[in-house]
Amino acid sequence: MHSDAQWDAWADTLAEEDYVLIDGYLPPELLAQLMVFFHAKQDELTPAKVGTLNARQQAPDIRSDMTYWLDQDRDQSLKEVFAWIEESLLRWNRLLFLSLSGYEFHLAYYPKGGHYAKHLDQFRGRNNRLISCVLYLNPDWKPGDGGELQLYDSTGTHERLHISPIMNRMIFFRSDAVWHAVLPTSAPRKSLTGWLLYRPSDVGAIIGA
Ligand code: OGA
Ligand code: MN
Repeated sequence: MHSDAQWDAWADTLAEEDYVLIDGYLPPELLAQLMVFFHAKQDELTPAKVGTLNARQQAPDIRSDMTYWLDQDRDQSLKEVFAWIEESLLRWNRLLFLSLSGYEFHLAYYPKGGHYAKHLDQFRGRNNRLISCVLYLNPDWKPGDGGELQLYDSTGTHERLHISPIMNRMIFFRSDAVWHAVLPTSAPRKSLTGWLLYRPSDVGAIIGA
């Protein structure tokens, strides 16, 4: 796994900038496992929804990705990938004095033409997402393919930067503070996307109700 010094530097960046970008996050063998898993689940992806709990609905004008929610017990072949997620949770707790205690992740697939309009990842009725994580899984991405992650300033009005969704690039950002969007993609776009939570998601769901 990554060194203490590396995590210290990433924590400083996350604290100062509200995001940190890490290229080459997973070791190659785990990345390969994840790609095999993604391929195997391709037919089980379902259109993503917006809103919480009983208010969840499809909204293709807002987001057009297809997702597959991961389950630690069921998706045993991703055990080591989960371990790398858990490492980040423990590191952020220690270095940023957070009390993260769970996570939720899905595979995400944006078909050609897909996008996700500007939003925050923390919303009313569901505010236990603290850190958003996106690991990009596009071995052939090239400029012109689109699908960049667009980050905005803290007011959500001014563009801050574009992040290309290249293979094995991870971004962590503050779910409550970083306005962001997925720009229209002209090639299929894959990622592992999730959230580090300060309570397990089922508890959050009860509170949200
Ligand atoms: C999301 C999201 C960003 C990305 O799923 O909430 O903003 O780059 N994803 O895929
Ligand atoms: Mn988001």
